[in-house]
Parts: sequence; C-alpha cells; structure tokens
Amino acid sequence: MDPLDFIISLAREAGTLLMERLDGPREIAFKHRADLVTDADRASEALIVERIHAAFPNAAILGEEGGVYAGAGDERFIVDPLDGTTNYAHRYPLFCVSIAYERAGRLEAGAVYGPMIGELYAARRGQPATLNGKPIAVSPIPAVSEALVCTGFIPSRYERNAANFAALSHVAQAVRRDGSAALDIAFVAAGRFESFWEWDLNPWDMAAGVVIVEAAGGTVTAIDGSPLDLTNGSILASNGATHDEMVGLLV
Ligand code: IPD
Ligand code: CA
Ligand code: CA
Repeated sequence: MDPLDFIISLAREAGTLLMERLDGPREIAFKHRADLVTDADRASEALIVERIHAAFPNAAILGEEGGVYAGAGDERFIVDPLDGTTNYAHRYPLFCVSIAYERAGRLEAGAVYGPMIGELYAARRGQPATLNGKPIAVSPIPAVSEALVCTGFIPSRYERNAANFAALSHVAQAVRRDGSAALDIAFVAAGRFESFWEWDLNPWDMAAGVVIVEAAGGTVTAIDGSPLDLTNGSILASNGATHDEMVGLLV
C-alpha cells in the first residue's frame, strides 16, 4: 500500500473517531497540571496502531500515548493521535490527527487532519503539498513587519517564550497562540502564517508538519537556525522569506 494514501485515510478515520466523541462524556486525566490526556487520545491511538500493524507489520511506531513499537525493517510511523487535546476538551476547533511516515531515518510523507475544520493537509517529500487535495504554497510576504506569526508553549515553560511573544507582538502584524502545533505548522504551509516557532515539542507534534511545510516551499530549522532535530524540541517553520529575520528576533 502506498504510505501516503495509507496515512491520509488513517488520519481521516481517526479524525472521525475524535468527532464522534467530541460531544460525549469526557474522561480527562492529567499528565501535569495543564497537560491533559482524554479517552479520545487513547482510542485514536489504539485505532491507528491497529491499522498500522495490519498494513505495515514490520514498521516501527512512535505514538504519543504509549504506542511505541520496534520494527523489523527501516520504516517508522510517528503519530500524534490528537494534537491540541486542550482545545479538543473545550471544543475549540483547532485540533488534529498527525501522522508521518519515515523510511531509513528520513521523513517521506505526512498527513495532518483537522476534523472539526474539515482540513486535510498532506505531502510526499519532493511533491507539492495539498490541502483537501488542492496544491498549497507558503506565503510570499518578505518581512516580519507584514507577517502573522504563531507560537506555542507549555505553561510550565511559559517564561522561556513570554519575552519572544512580547517582542514579536511589537514587530509582526500580530502573534497567535492556537494550541495545536501540527496544525500551526500546516497553516504555514497554507500561507496563513508566515512563521511558527516553539520549544519543547516532541517528534509527533512536528514530523508530519515538517514534510508538509517543506513540500509547500517553506523552511524548517531549529529556532537558532541550526538544522532541525526532531528529538530536540526546537522548531522554526516559515515561508523562507521571513526565516532569517525570525532567527535574529527570537532569543
Ligand atoms: C500540544 C500542542 C500545543 C503545544 C504543546 C503540545 P498535545 O500537543 O501541540 O499546541 O503548545 O507543546 O504538547 O498535548 O495537545 O498533543
Ligand atoms: Ca501534540
Ligand atoms: Ca497529543
């Protein structure tokens, strides 16, 4: 089975599961004070893991909610079964399923599906990124002064990013904090945000979005401009044109 077709249909199926549970009773547990996990996160990941095992029995899996399996080959799926759990718990529409496909250590395909907004972002390395099947591209805006930028941060590390949020609020047209890193990165690919940055992310928050934003013509590095390392947590995804200026502004 083609990996991109597979992760697209899997993201849609898991997104449908999330929507079916959206208005039902919610079981919320707390990893930390403001780090939620719900029954829906776990059900979504169980579904995704089951489907991957059936279709790609040799693939490794890195899933946020404990779905971690060593594979027998060189394929790996990186899965956030519900990115934006706090938004989901409040029925704020920006949440998604994020699934990336990696082969021999290189990201090859990504799918990000926001079921409440009805948006499916997808890309294969080296081919155009799409939103609901139509090609998308990053924004041509060249300067941060004309840019809408976005960030995210976990409350326990708020201070680390608060100064950047304030500084960018004075330089950019506006700053957003939308609460779903995978969708935030996809919005850069769609030309809505010129830049997105965050520290302390996990591979499953970033992997699919990275493929999509690069396929849409964007640039992705760590916040200091060094090469992206999915295990390091620092990401700056941009339209390319604002990238160096953002690196210079962020501390
Ligand atoms: C979180 C979201 C949020 C980001 C956090 C992530 P989760 O993922 O992407 O926007 O600021 O750092 O942990 O917990 O909702 O899957
Ligand atoms: Ca996440
Ligand atoms: Ca999650």
